[in-house]
Amino acid sequence: MTNRSCLAVILAAGEGTRMKSTLPKVLHAIAGLPMVGHVASAAKAAGGDIALVVGHGADAVRTAAAKLIPDASVFVQAERLGTAHAVLAAREALARGYDDVLVMFGDTPLVETEVLARLRAPLAQGAAVSVMGFRAADPTGYGRLIVEDGELVAIREHRDCSEAERRIDLCNGGLMAIDGRKALQLLDAVGNQNAKGEYYLTDIVEIARRDRLRATVTEAAFENALGINNRAELAEAEAIWQQRRRKAMMLAGVTLVAPETVHFAHDTEIGPDTIIEPNVFFGPGVKVGADVTIHGFSHIEGAKVAPRAEVGPFARLRPGADLHEKSKVGNFCEVKKAVIEEGAKINHLTYIGDARVGACANVGAGTITCNYDGYGKFFTDIGANAFIGSNSALVAPLTIGDGAYVASGSVITDDVPADGLAIGRARQVTKPERARILRAMRAAAAKK
Ligand code: UD1
Ligand code: CA
Repeated sequence: MTNRSCLAVILAAGEGTRMKSTLPKVLHAIAGLPMVGHVASAAKAAGGDIALVVGHGADAVRTAAAKLIPDASVFVQAERLGTAHAVLAAREALARGYDDVLVMFGDTPLVETEVLARLRAPLAQGAAVSVMGFRAADPTGYGRLIVEDGELVAIREHRDCSEAERRIDLCNGGLMAIDGRKALQLLDAVGNQNAKGEYYLTDIVEIARRDRLRATVTEAAFENALGINNRAELAEAEAIWQQRRRKAMMLAGVTLVAPETVHFAHDTEIGPDTIIEPNVFFGPGVKVGADVTIHGFSHIEGAKVAPRAEVGPFARLRPGADLHEKSKVGNFCEVKKAVIEEGAKINHLTYIGDARVGACANVGAGTITCNYDGYGKFFTDIGANAFIGSNSALVAPLTIGDGAYVASGSVITDDVPADGLAIGRARQVTKPERARILRAMRAAAAKK
């Protein structure tokens, strides 16, 4: 890693009307994180400060950025006059004097940290401008990279290209690294004499050459340049992101039985030797330890799962679910904001919310913690080794002591002491022969 100082200028003043959304384009999420968050975390991993350029009236972007990238300085590009003009909106940050300036697009979320490092490398060797290029099967619409004797001499926007230039398949990926000591002088020299009448960032290549400075191309995979303009492209980027993450997970020791059916969030953490069965969804905020089994069709978000625990199939872990070692949450169970202590078992058809289930307790099928009365949430505390009979309703607030026993079908409204037995249901009435008499009466009535 280089010790050169770096500023990443992230352009996010685009209108994004083709998303057909009230949400600004750069706030649409991939793996549960807004696109601009992906761009910022790649920039951060490359090391350095961040300047975010937003459009006029982009309060939603500003608000989101304050949470996602709290240390970024935010600038407004009041009029959309082109990419060079957008970078210059961050003039104050550029004037701080960095060694390297990276220009990134907020709608190009799949850029890899490794590519940023490669892109910056030529600056350390004396280049003034370093441009990320990619080969396109269909280069229509992209700026073309014009290379002579291995040197980048110009970037020509598609609209401004000659017939011969349009046949060049080496395209501008949009991403650029600029010598921080020259950036302002290069950008200030950009004019708007082109087909769109915009101040093109890409013109700094020719300007640099005129000043006898060097420009270079670094080639990268197309994904790094994938700009999102509509929801079909958003889904395409999501698919590529998921594919990358699945592969990384597997290489880190996680077994994915059917990788293409598992969906991760940007921050999912999973320990080695954990097995994920098909069709599992991870929302944001999940940490899973080593040696866990997540059975198929489970939906997990904001939850912690400790080593050797077992989850699912068809389990739902909601925010605040905290499963300790060797605990088990089985089929059709939902757990929310609850600690399931070591070795506790909740095997079937159960809702546990706002609760603690003590170590090695056993919660029978169909148990419900009644945690909500329409106004407030209440806590249920189940002690270690307690046994909750099937189909019990535990009406919170409630404490069930260690080793206590709740009879099946109970509605429990009062605390149960340790080692106590609670039965909260009507006593059974059995009438010998009554079924036979009933049948005879019904049959006689039906004949009439
Ligand atoms: C740009 C490049 C083109 C490259 C392509 C790669 C220029 C002049 N052209 O073209 O060579 O092949 O990206 O995708 O740079 N933006 C602002 N303010 C502006 C204009 C743009 O913030 O005034 C932002 C946009 O929100 C977007 C990015 O800059 O995130 C790129 O702008 P866009 O208009 O999409 O450029 P392209 O025509 O795609
Ligand atoms: Ca674009």
